[in-house]
Amino acid sequence: MDETLEQLRSASLAEVAAAADEQAVEAVRVKYLGRAGSISLLSEGMKTLSKEERPRIGKLLNEVRSQLTGAIEARKAALQEMRDAAAFAGIDGTLPGIAAWRGALHPMTLLQDRAVQIFRRMGFAIADGPDIETEWHCFDALNTPADHPARNEQDTFYLPDGRLLRSQTSTIQVRTMEAQAPPVRIIGPGSAYRRDEIDATHLAQFTQMEGLYVDEGVTLADLKGTVEFFFRELLGGAAQVRFRPHFFPFTEPSFEIDIKAPALGGDRWLELAGCGMVDPAVFEAINGRRGDKAYDPERVSGWAFGFGLERLAMIISSVPDIRSFIENDLRFLEQFR
Ligand code: DAH
Repeated sequence: MDETLEQLRSASLAEVAAAADEQAVEAVRVKYLGRAGSISLLSEGMKTLSKEERPRIGKLLNEVRSQLTGAIEARKAALQEMRDAAAFAGIDGTLPGIAAWRGALHPMTLLQDRAVQIFRRMGFAIADGPDIETEWHCFDALNTPADHPARNEQDTFYLPDGRLLRSQTSTIQVRTMEAQAPPVRIIGPGSAYRRDEIDATHLAQFTQMEGLYVDEGVTLADLKGTVEFFFRELLGGAAQVRFRPHFFPFTEPSFEIDIKAPALGGDRWLELAGCGMVDPAVFEAINGRRGDKAYDPERVSGWAFGFGLERLAMIISSVPDIRSFIENDLRFLEQFR
């Protein structure tokens, strides 16, 4: 028995040392230590030994078993190490890594989000509408007559079926009032499209933000307070707001909003938005569509405003060319991270 064991010991250890890969090591383990392995079978043979022999042989058996187990583990680890070393050969782990490039929001999205946050704090909900619109939603409902220059083919993108790419987000006012009775307090950010020659201050697709507030007893003072609060939140408390009389078909009276702020480079008044009290003709057009008197101009009043976000971003960030926002030049975009 002793001899057999010693033979098994040297044979198995030699086989482990010669095993060229993990599979070969595993085969040695099964051959000697597996359920039907030689060492396991010898353990069963212990029963036939005399009482005196049993402890000594048992001890030897355990010794061989644990020695072999240890050798198997060590050989596996050594093989793994060789595999790793081969895989990393020629790689210098001390070199600096390549940093993953992290994307960021587009400057227009950042500004739009900031504007939306400010209006949300004042209780405005976000409204939406389609970019492809009917002439009625873009013009007729907004009291813009058929001979208005904005409706000219030179100014607006028409589709063959007569619909058009909305030339202003004021369509969102119309969509909202069609769907919902007053009180209404919404902002509508989105794209607007015009057949403009693209240059440093014009894009054929740009971003606007519309605002609308309709309820009983809404006045111009509410409009001015809201606009003032918005621009002071956006540009700092020193921002000044001026309303200058203007004309829009869908508001009466109408104004242009001029802003003067240190953040905008000091003491020039900059024209940033249009606004006014919703023209009763707009309410009547909506009522006609709805088939009710929800927007009875004798009972409710409202105001609206609209401004271009690119123009605002250009002034805030001193961007000289509006095309920078659509060229996707990372050297430009990364400055807004
Ligand atoms: N829609 C106008 C434009 O694109 C901007 C505007 C002016 C919107 C006055 C309004 C408003 O809601 O009341 O030039």
